[in-house]
Amino acid sequence: MCYAIPGKVIGFEGKLVKVEYFGEVKQAVNEFDDLELGDYIYAQGGYTIKKIPEAEALSILATWKETFFELQELDLRLSRLDLEKAGIDKKFALILDKAAEDLALKETDLLYLLNLEGEKELKLLYKVANFLRQKHLGNSCCVHGIIEFSNHCSQNCAYCGISTHNRDLRRYRMTKQQIADAAYDAIETWGFKALVLQSGEDPAYSVADLAEIIQEIKQRSAVLIFISCGEVGLNGLEKLYQAGARGLLMRFETGNPKLYEKLHPDRSLASRLAHLKKAFELGYLLITGGLIGLPGQTREDILKDILLTKELRTEMYTFGPFLPHPNTPLALTPPPSVKEVLKTLAVARLADAKDGKIVVTTGFETLHPQAREEGLVAGANSVMLNVTPAEFSKNYLIYPKRAHSGERLKEQIDTTLKILRDLGRAPTDLGVTHA
Ligand code: 5AD
Repeated sequence: MCYAIPGKVIGFEGKLVKVEYFGEVKQAVNEFDDLELGDYIYAQGGYTIKKIPEAEALSILATWKETFFELQELDLRLSRLDLEKAGIDKKFALILDKAAEDLALKETDLLYLLNLEGEKELKLLYKVANFLRQKHLGNSCCVHGIIEFSNHCSQNCAYCGISTHNRDLRRYRMTKQQIADAAYDAIETWGFKALVLQSGEDPAYSVADLAEIIQEIKQRSAVLIFISCGEVGLNGLEKLYQAGARGLLMRFETGNPKLYEKLHPDRSLASRLAHLKKAFELGYLLITGGLIGLPGQTREDILKDILLTKELRTEMYTFGPFLPHPNTPLALTPPPSVKEVLKTLAVARLADAKDGKIVVTTGFETLHPQAREEGLVAGANSVMLNVTPAEFSKNYLIYPKRAHSGERLKEQIDTTLKILRDLGRAPTDLGVTHA
């Protein structure tokens, strides 16, 4: 969101531009032909997205400056590492020490952490995860907006409430104009700098239609667009990149091929992974991950999913709980515990401490009202807000009783900002990598 901070261009290096934010220098891919030293810009996800007039930039920076340092200080205080290790297992203490010192953890170490059950041990794990998040990525918290533009879907995923299994759902499609208007409002009224366009796999929108929507949004406003419309084909990915999409949100759901095929009878894990790999090659930023608590899934599976996410060179990890939907074949499968989800976020942080953004998903918020507060101090550093007009989003029921369903955007933003402020997090993704 909201509130990306303007940075000043202080140098160029090939396709990269060096940008200064309150004394810190970061870098982004330059998407402009006419950028000059001294210009002010917004960047998102490592791309420059907008130039801003100096006077406007300076006024935004002036209002930010004090808050920026105040938040940083609060976060630093809250994430300090004072581990109370009396009475804990030696092996566990050793793993935590290694993690805190940025030594690589072995797979057996990570599995050990995923198998922890004790409250005291888990608290220590979350603390180390939070410490590493602060140390490597500071207090910036990515806030993307998501527009769910169609809940029609041709697929029969066994867990999903908008799949063909659900015959009771009121289906909707937003028109191109409605999608472009929702995007315009999110960007221009509410300040979002990155938007996800999501839908079921809906054949009513061809790749050409999607390309047109992306172009229309980008023509009107500066924004980083992620697509999330399922498997659009490798050519489709290429066309949508050309149209201006720069990110792909697509979970592989589970990296266990047998489980994958059981849950997605007409699909293969190989095809899913081929999309993700192709997208990365094309230059897309990836948001990927899996479901936690699928029937038959083991902790080894979850660990492999974390490592697979890392291997895919994801920009952001998205791991959320499976939540049973009554009109699907998995109606009677119970969801995982809150602990299982928090552990996954924390272990993902320990496995990819330096780079990974980790999102607290809406699924987790649906499972647990305090998901954001707890997730953000257990290694996570991103959230997504639903910017779909409420009349539509109330029917995007991938699982029942979705958190924030029908909530006004203003309300969502206000509660999110309060949570972030109380934790010393800046609702901004500087949108750049360390120089
Ligand atoms: N519980 C949790 N997440 C679900 N999704 C679909 N159905 C469910 C469910 N029952 C998730 C999938 C998909 C994303 C858009 O929604 O992981 O990738």
